[in-house]
Amino acid sequence: MSAPWRGFASDNYAGIHPEVLEAIARANDGHAIAYGDDDETERLRELVREHFGPQAQVFPVFNGTGANVVALQAICRPWEAVICAESAHVNVDEGGAPEKVAGLKLWTVPTADGLLTPDLVDVHAVRAGDVHRAQQAAVTITQSSELGTAYSIEALGTLADHVHSLGLRLHLDGARLANAAAGLGVTLREVTTDVGVDAVSFGGTKNGAMGAEAVIVLNPDLAAAVPFLRKSAMQLASKMRFISAQLSALLTDDLWLRNARHANAMARRLESAVRAVPGVEIVRRVDANAVFAVLPSAATERLQRDYRFYTWDDHTGEVRWMCSWDTTESDVDAFAAAIDREMRG
Ligand SMILES: Cc1ncc(COP(=O)(O)O)c(C=O)c1O
Repeated sequence: MSAPWRGFASDNYAGIHPEVLEAIARANDGHAIAYGDDDETERLRELVREHFGPQAQVFPVFNGTGANVVALQAICRPWEAVICAESAHVNVDEGGAPEKVAGLKLWTVPTADGLLTPDLVDVHAVRAGDVHRAQQAAVTITQSSELGTAYSIEALGTLADHVHSLGLRLHLDGARLANAAAGLGVTLREVTTDVGVDAVSFGGTKNGAMGAEAVIVLNPDLAAAVPFLRKSAMQLASKMRFISAQLSALLTDDLWLRNARHANAMARRLESAVRAVPGVEIVRRVDANAVFAVLPSAATERLQRDYRFYTWDDHTGEVRWMCSWDTTESDVDAFAAAIDREMRG
């Protein structure tokens, strides 16, 4: 076996946090009722109410695409549609699952920074009642966004009010919700329930879980359908206790926050180390755990021989450097030094 390595490709390249692994081992005790009627899942329900507010209902699932598909189906009827940023994971990285599995049209809009605004939503808030147009029912946003940026609490509140004034509902893809909340210095409740989000895809995997996500329904009107949608979307785990135990571990002793704060701090460390390197341009705000930069493609290719990371945009040469809960200061410093050496020749 080759030596263990860490790179900057994705926060889901990281392993499992030891506290999550211990929680899985603790849950591995005797028999438990299948499909969510177990004590672990009951404990998760309590923790989610504590963190998101008393009306929050949690439905664990296997992955983020599944969470998004189930949540959007809970909001939309079969002939309806979802407004999203062109860069949204639901649009570019889910293999068409929202369209194929949920049968939902996506109305996409280009953004400057991965974030929607009321004006951008309005681009598609048209022709309501027109039988020829897939009728918008949901707006989905990603927090933190695919471009490493995050909505402020004020921006979220304004957007949610606008979405609701149009008679639509707001879904939040929170694959990196922990990183956004940590960056803003707010609770999970303040960044979701309190601003008026209707349903959340809550991510655990990028935050130190082995593989655990959840649909969290905040608008009680949407909850009744979710158990049925989750089953038909093939996201109902029989041994659910092991998924629930992972999410509960993240929501215990602020593990979610410790992990997210650390990943964000590593991204800021990388950003400040490379900002002054000639020929490297940081092109996005670093609000969470990702750094986006433009550098010459030849330099990218040489760096990628030693460090894994993705080219985000082949046309502009923009790359993404992602930090995770287990990125160390020396990982960052060594990578920044390699970038510096590469660029200074
Ligand atoms: C914004 C966003 N949403 C959702 C997901 C979840 O994807 P998966 O279905 O691979 O768990 C990801 C993972 O990359 C993501 O970045």
